[in-house]
Amino acid sequence: MWGGRFGGGPSAIMQQINASIGVDKRLWRQDIQGSRAHVAMLGKQGIISAEDVAAIDKGLQQIAQEYADGKLVENLALEDIHLHVETRLKEIIGPAAGRLHTARSRNDQVAVDFRLWVKAACDEADAALKALIGALLKRAEEHADTIMPGFTHLQVAQPVTLGHHLMAYVEMLSRDRSRFADAKARMDECPLGAAALAGTSFPIDRQMTAAALGFAKGPTRNSLDSVSDRDFALEYLSATHMTGLHLSRLAEEIIIWASQPYGFITLPDAWSTGSSIMPQKRNPDAAELVRAKAGEFLAAFTRLSVVMKGLPLAYSKDMQDDKSTVFAAFDDLGLCLASMTGMVETLTFNKAKMRAAANSGFSTATDLADWLVRVANVPFREAHEITGKCVKAAEAKGTDLNGLTDAELKAIDARITRAVRDVLSVEASVASRTSFGGTAPANVRAAIAAARARL
Ligand code: ARG
Repeated sequence: MWGGRFGGGPSAIMQQINASIGVDKRLWRQDIQGSRAHVAMLGKQGIISAEDVAAIDKGLQQIAQEYADGKLVENLALEDIHLHVETRLKEIIGPAAGRLHTARSRNDQVAVDFRLWVKAACDEADAALKALIGALLKRAEEHADTIMPGFTHLQVAQPVTLGHHLMAYVEMLSRDRSRFADAKARMDECPLGAAALAGTSFPIDRQMTAAALGFAKGPTRNSLDSVSDRDFALEYLSATHMTGLHLSRLAEEIIIWASQPYGFITLPDAWSTGSSIMPQKRNPDAAELVRAKAGEFLAAFTRLSVVMKGLPLAYSKDMQDDKSTVFAAFDDLGLCLASMTGMVETLTFNKAKMRAAANSGFSTATDLADWLVRVANVPFREAHEITGKCVKAAEAKGTDLNGLTDAELKAIDARITRAVRDVLSVEASVASRTSFGGTAPANVRAAIAAARARL
């Protein structure tokens, strides 16, 4: 395709390091789509004849059918998907195929192919996130009143509802959806027609190709930027990384909760693995792999950042290495989201274990302190001190706060009456947390309804 000024061919190793077909064959649909839009525009602008347009377009459609049937024959000598398509076109329609590349370069071609691909990847991430959010909403609804311990420092802090805990992930994942949507909106400009780097002398219509390819914001504004920008891929990886962090935290909780000392949840057989030596084992491998892959996403973002950081304008071949990184992250993200959805949909919550744990660790101590403030008008700091003494006394007695007698409580502070018992249960505690965004079951139900409306 470019051998005119060359005397000899590339060495075998040169071919191997240079070829990207093994990776970028995934862009074949976008490549053919881009070429069809380009050739239609060349025809409309009178740059090539109507007969050539018809022949090229027909040939491209035939290639699309062949590739869909799995008949793409990889050839390292043809470097990438762009040269594969063009060479096959020449086999099918003859020399007219050579007119397709008028007013175009592989630099703008790959930029447009990859943008189209990443835009679709943003949509896929959105759909998969939506499915996971749907699963979480369903479980949150079932467990709007289920009580579990809320933790800080992984120490029992205050009782919360399981529905509230699950809804925290709905919030995180909803922000992730908006990150993919923002990234997609920003990349919605078409680089086709930037040619190699400087634009072209042919009277092309970039508005036309941008519209034909579905770029909402029209053509990109600067030809140099068009062929050297990979921000769009980095933003995709950044949103993927953030999603990965959220999935990893949920995975971590699934792992902890499924462990025997916690016993909060049981994963079904479909989401468990056994051990080759310990017959009793049920391991949460999928959750562990989701946790591990969060590291892969950060690595992908880091890798492409490093590929890009020192590149002078405009195109350098380093940029060819963007795709393997993005494709791998895309595949892993799909697997992670599908796995989390499967686990969330099917795991069983052990309500009794959760409630018992919520009742441990003097989890309603804050409720006692708040009661002193509310009922006996004690300043909060003093109430905190008094409650601390109650906890100390209960601990010494080997009981919980409710296990202290009225007399024992009175001895610590005369203002404590038996009415305090109303706030010491975990049920009373969660029911009282009615501030906006709080854990009370009524709030959780309202939050679920609002989230469903936003979905
Ligand atoms: N396969 C190349 C890539 O993915 C296409 C662009 C090649 N351009 C060039 N000047 N060699 O980046």
